[in-house]
Amino acid sequence: MNFKSHALSLAEFTSKYSPLWNKEIMNEYPESIDDYPREWIDLLDSLTDDELFDVDCKRPVEKLKGTSFETFVQTIKTLSDIPKITPVPELPLEDWAFQGVKKKKRHEIQKIVPVLKKVRDEKKFDYVVDIGGGVGHLSRVLSHYHAIPSISIDQNVEFQEIGRGRLQKFRKIEGAQDVTFMNITFGKKEDDPELGKIFNEHSLGLGLHTCGALANTLIQNTIDHHTMGLLSFGCCYHTLKANVDFPLSTFYKEQHFPVLNLYGFTLATRSHAETTLETYKTKERVKKYRYALHLFLMKNFGKKSFIEVGECHLSTYWEPFHVYISEKLNFLKLEHNFTNEDFDHFYESTEIQKDLREMFLCNVIRWQLGRVLEIYLQVDRCLYLEANGFEVKLEQYFEEALSPRNLGILALQKEN
Ligand SMILES: C[S@@+](CC[C@H](N)C(=O)[O-])C[C@H]1O[C@@H](n2cnc3c(N)ncnc32)[C@H](O)[C@@H]1O
Repeated sequence: MNFKSHALSLAEFTSKYSPLWNKEIMNEYPESIDDYPREWIDLLDSLTDDELFDVDCKRPVEKLKGTSFETFVQTIKTLSDIPKITPVPELPLEDWAFQGVKKKKRHEIQKIVPVLKKVRDEKKFDYVVDIGGGVGHLSRVLSHYHAIPSISIDQNVEFQEIGRGRLQKFRKIEGAQDVTFMNITFGKKEDDPELGKIFNEHSLGLGLHTCGALANTLIQNTIDHHTMGLLSFGCCYHTLKANVDFPLSTFYKEQHFPVLNLYGFTLATRSHAETTLETYKTKERVKKYRYALHLFLMKNFGKKSFIEVGECHLSTYWEPFHVYISEKLNFLKLEHNFTNEDFDHFYESTEIQKDLREMFLCNVIRWQLGRVLEIYLQVDRCLYLEANGFEVKLEQYFEEALSPRNLGILALQKEN
């Protein structure tokens, strides 16, 4: 992939739609609605629930053919078209090798291991250093069953204790290599001398779902310690700090590409995979109750800006509205004399239902942007690695429905 030319297209699109991603609909309601093309809102309003669900799943809908909304969706599809790794046969491992490993993790391991085996055949690295390796499932499968030695680093002692215990319980096969657990905080200055002993030109760094800035720390240490390279899967982008953790590359900085903010990072973190109708219906209900609460606070308490209202159990959203809002007003310590009937009447009124529908439709439009923002972020990381002497590939490793954070960056030192 030509990262620079793809980055230019991504940046143009990201810039054009920045009013949509750079705030939540509630942030500046009702003005925020004006950022969404009226014809798109009306078009989506004319769809049935099933058709709207199809839009959310990014499936084609007949009624949208030839519209500017379809062009918008098509552009997103083109920009998000990241190649999938070349299919390789599933590893011939029996179920016992994955005892106690969740389906998602098993799938991820099955996809990663063959790629690492191939890289090792070509580059002859001595071992893998798995950053944020948790209980060490990936390291165990790599070392015990595929003869690739591994060191699993995590700052969490409990996870590693569980991992060590598990190593004893699993049968090893002939040629099995060791898994070593190392309890350090990756990126912490004081731990750097210790890290330097193992994170060096003989090793390959691995980060399976290194949260937020930990992926950047892996990238920077790969460069600073001159390791052979890395395979990195990011997640939890919402914890990134704008202008600190993003952008990394000189190219993004010099071109003055749009800088994602908290709302952009959060949108990039959403699952972009297809869901079930039931999950979609729940999502709609959650949004409508949350928005109705916002409208109620605006109208009755003069609170226009977005406020934190805490979490609540999913089942609450299927109770009448008064149950939900009473819990929230309690949380916010707002005294009032409203009755349950007042709350339910407010929610069910034609005027509020119309506003809620419009807000939800704008969200369906806004959600379309998530995957592009994620790719925009990952391409910046790729460019940074490329500028630091690495051969870089960005590919989809996992089935999106099973593991939505499926973008892997494979960066290997260029041959001299
Ligand atoms: C999302 S989990 C991923 C765990 C594992 N790689 C997997 O895919 O199952 C992130 C892990 O990173 C660890 N972690 C976070 N920051 C770290 C740091 N700076 N140094 C070492 N471990 C860290 C956490 O304790 C946690 O186990």
